Amino acid sequence: MKSPLPPQFPRDLLRWYDGHRRALPWRRLGEPYPVWLSEVMLQQTQVSTVEPYFKRWLDRFPAVVDVARATSDEVLKMWEGLGYYSRARKFHQACQIIADQYGGTIPDDPAKFRALPGVGPYTFAAVRSICYGDPLPAVDGNLKRVTSRLLCLQATGTALAAECEQALADVIPADRPGDFNQAMMDLGATICSTSSPQCPTCPVAQHCQARANNTVGQYPLRAAVRKRPHYDVAVGLIWRGDRLLIGRRPEKGLLGGLWEFPGGKVEPGETAEEAVHREILEEVGLDVTVDTHIGSIEHGYTHFAITMQAFHCSWIEGEAQNIGCTATQWIRFDELQNYAFPGANRKLLPLIELPASKPQLGA
Ligand code: ADE
Repeated sequence: MKSPLPPQFPRDLLRWYDGHRRALPWRRLGEPYPVWLSEVMLQQTQVSTVEPYFKRWLDRFPAVVDVARATSDEVLKMWEGLGYYSRARKFHQACQIIADQYGGTIPDDPAKFRALPGVGPYTFAAVRSICYGDPLPAVDGNLKRVTSRLLCLQATGTALAAECEQALADVIPADRPGDFNQAMMDLGATICSTSSPQCPTCPVAQHCQARANNTVGQYPLRAAVRKRPHYDVAVGLIWRGDRLLIGRRPEKGLLGGLWEFPGGKVEPGETAEEAVHREILEEVGLDVTVDTHIGSIEHGYTHFAITMQAFHCSWIEGEAQNIGCTATQWIRFDELQNYAFPGANRKLLPLIELPASKPQLGA
């Protein structure tokens, strides 16, 4: 039977936070727009990765209306490399709603904010606690780990999140809910880390049941892990004179709205060359010749991993069609940098030795 956190817990935690809080740019700003942006960028992503993106984004889009006015390509380009691109698409949509319906000001009404695209329970609680003082625990990975250790919680997944939320709701202080949440995040990131918890320096070690039992390393309990599937993928760099064909992925789904080289999964019994020929026909309606092998890269996504083979191909005739993509462009190699590309496609670029017959490259 777990016991709840004691009333001294928030006091001890906040005393530590007041002397050790991380100096993060969104904390200085404190306004709903940058705080909301930071919370979206920080989902599944480390602070050190987010910081340069956050600064670049605010230079380019100082206000919600600047995001609203941008094209989806501009938004995705600013997000390129952060991953989980649906976050960027939804943030863009939410900013457009705020510009159209709320005069460019993030609504103070909690229900209206919660109804915006991409504002789930975590983002809602984080922004509302930090900017508006609502006493809501913002349960992210750090809070789950810290709370599961404090209370030796046995649950995993969404059940664990619910138990953490309940336990923290009982102690989150009404006068400093945002600081409480951020103190828990900082504690999780700096002391109560996943692989090397620093219990001797922990400001709340005296309240920690896992520490008392010497079982800190066991928490949070891990749900049974499923093996990540692996796929073989083949893509083509289709040349038409000095131009290359790129296609835009459908808005919905994995990597939606990003640009890529046409291609797809290699089917059982098929060679990578055959797959690239078939996929290009299916995706953009072009019959190409598959010329030389460029190389292969390995790339891991959250739920699967791929080996991607790439080939130089040559256009023969006809116009590219939007069959499996929403747009196509014939571009010069040096223009690739202007488009948002998935990480796997970008990894290919250093492997590409430009054939002598594709002259302007590097020009
Ligand atoms: N991770 C998610 N939100 C954060 C915040 N506000 N401060 C530090 N780390 C975070």
